[in-house]
Amino acid sequence: MRITTTCDQLSTDLAKAGPCVFVPTMGALHAGHAALIRRGVELARERELSGGCVVSIFVNPSQFNDPADFARYPKTFEADAAMCEAAGASLVFAPGVDDVYPPGVEIATPPLPAVAAGPGLEDAFRPGHFAGVCRVVKRLFEIVRPVASVFGEKDWQQLQVITAMVRNLSMPIEIIPGPTVREDDGLAMSSRNRFLTPADRVRALALRRALHAAQSASTPADAQAAMTSVLAADSIVADYAVVRDAQTLLAPDPSGARPHRALITARVGSVRLLDNAAWAPRSV
Ligand code: PAF
Repeated sequence: MRITTTCDQLSTDLAKAGPCVFVPTMGALHAGHAALIRRGVELARERELSGGCVVSIFVNPSQFNDPADFARYPKTFEADAAMCEAAGASLVFAPGVDDVYPPGVEIATPPLPAVAAGPGLEDAFRPGHFAGVCRVVKRLFEIVRPVASVFGEKDWQQLQVITAMVRNLSMPIEIIPGPTVREDDGLAMSSRNRFLTPADRVRALALRRALHAAQSASTPADAQAAMTSVLAADSIVADYAVVRDAQTLLAPDPSGARPHRALITARVGSVRLLDNAAWAPRSV
């Protein structure tokens, strides 16, 4: 596995290696990332892409709306590189800020898709976040030029935003979802879980329980009430605990014909946690 830190070197490496699958990350990798990388490796093999799976490790400053969150974002490069290698990545691209955003060069933010601005979920609670995500992902796509790219389902709105951005910009890149990987007790893996105190680590399990409770409801409103009540039992007030159209993230289609998603984001102690699950009305 090669490690490359500049765009020039990356272009040379990719020209030799050939077409690839891409997994963008911000490092602090855990088993959830390893699963995305293994999926990328498998896909590259299935499609006979000689460039294999390329992983980027870049903590993108422009997507953090809270400077404290950016400052404490874990940096664990040695362990990350070892995990990429163990998962079968062919190349790690770990650029500096000046490589991604060269001084004096305008790196435009693409027009944001509706799902990045309308639903009132992460778009409302993290103003500017999706502008930063779209800007860096488009930039990385233009540098790496992958055939396909894998994004985790844990950041469900991000997955919909990137899928819509690629479609709107007619970029020839297939966006592949990677299922959420969970700890044995059900907590969705996240680079920020390490900041949970032991007591908050236990309280955090309420998110998963709330999603399970939603599954027993027969309407979105009942599902939302069930999630709020389970979270309240652990004194957790969610930023949102909602059922939405799985793709647009707007209010569910009343006919129920389109897939739904239950989504929760809540602060537990000092950590903002996200989780989500497919939701369908329980048939009575
Ligand atoms: O999901 C992430 O880790 C980041 O938002 C991404 C896609 C790597 C862009 O910085």
